[in-house]
Amino acid sequence: MKNIYILGAAGSIGLQSLEVVEQSNNELNIIGISLGSQETLNRSILDRFPNVEIVCLRNHTHLKAFQDQYPYIKFVGGDEGLIEIARYPKKGIVLNALSGSAGLRPTVAAIESKKDIALANKETLVMAGDIINQLIKMYQVNLYPVDSEHSSLWQTLKGEDTTDIEKLVITASGGSFRDLSREALSEVTLEQALKHPNWSMGDKITIDSATMMNKGLEVIEAHHLFGLPYHQIETVLHKESVVHGLAYFKDGTVKACLSLSDMKIPIAYALYYPKRHEYPSKLELTNLSFEPMNFKRFPLLKLAYDVGLQGGLLPTVMNAANEAAVKLFLKKQIKFLEIENIVMETVHQFENKMEPTLDEIIQTDEWIQNHILLTYGKR
Ligand SMILES: NC(=O)c1ccc[n+]([C@@H]2O[C@H](COP(=O)([O-])OP(=O)(O)OC[C@H]3O[C@@H](n4cnc5c(N)ncnc54)[C@H](OP(=O)(O)O)[C@@H]3O)[C@@H](O)[C@H]2O)c1
Repeated sequence: MKNIYILGAAGSIGLQSLEVVEQSNNELNIIGISLGSQETLNRSILDRFPNVEIVCLRNHTHLKAFQDQYPYIKFVGGDEGLIEIARYPKKGIVLNALSGSAGLRPTVAAIESKKDIALANKETLVMAGDIINQLIKMYQVNLYPVDSEHSSLWQTLKGEDTTDIEKLVITASGGSFRDLSREALSEVTLEQALKHPNWSMGDKITIDSATMMNKGLEVIEAHHLFGLPYHQIETVLHKESVVHGLAYFKDGTVKACLSLSDMKIPIAYALYYPKRHEYPSKLELTNLSFEPMNFKRFPLLKLAYDVGLQGGLLPTVMNAANEAAVKLFLKKQIKFLEIENIVMETVHQFENKMEPTLDEIIQTDEWIQNHILLTYGKR
């Protein structure tokens, strides 16, 4: 039996992870979870997992009511509660399925508590990839990717020597507006942006897919996970989301990893690793299409390469600007193309600092997000 902690258990990845645990015939055992701000959903999760030992509620408001209703569970709350779960004194894997920069500190706390990490929260590596890699070595823990592209690359690279890799290729579905010209993007609505053609995901990543920022974050994530320079990490448009990642080797061999667009597959791979578990998800091959990526059409992807290459605090700045701009778009306070403008402007105005500390990263993230919310919100 493997002990599991899930941060962000009430989100899209979190709920699918809970299903993986339910289907595990007690091979996976939930010890702790963090929940979001939807009361009814939170209660339904607790009713499904009555043996969970520690639960973090996003808001402190209902802590007492929950504690009274579920007296055998320890309840904690807010950002500090996430850290308490990560530090809970029972061995286990922490699956980080929080969205946005909130995922960084709990990842660090889990590593410092010598827990392995299954990482869906790509923002952790975008902001602090170098620091996370140092901590992983220092505390001798494992970090398993959950993002489908990175899980695929992890699988294609198993047993391979990094020096034999010519390049890695990450595929992109293209998001909700992949068939629209840039001109047509000026009038698109939030409702249209939230309709992803292939995946059902949380709001932030769905918008990030439509702007292609998501692929940019994934390129930086891949750089830190697989230790390759940016010129060896490419992206390609692949509308079917069947091939998730490809590795080209120096002898002319190309290995690709294919599966249905079902996040339960990479989630289970990370949670059961190194075992594979049985899951009736059969892929039937159909025609697959691949198109070169157009950086003019998707300027945020190009920006992510530039920012990743420069390193320092810039990836944090880009990530924070994007997170805040997406929040504003989700509240209908800015238009779709303003997300790009805000991110570009913020990055270009920022004076970079190399080798930032964790505190500097966290403070910069907060400062940039607050600045953008105040400057562009409810004008
Ligand atoms: N969804 C996918 O298919 C997919 C695929 C690959 C990678 N990922 C990555 O996985 C991560 C999660 O994505 P998602 O789509 O599952 O997001 P999501 O549906 O928005 O879920 C995120 C969960 O985390 C909670 N949360 C967010 N910020 C928090 C905070 N500060 N304190 C406490 N709880 C907080 C949210 O609570 P509320 O309910 O209050 O919002 C929600 O329950 C992201 O980094 C994303 O890029 C997702």
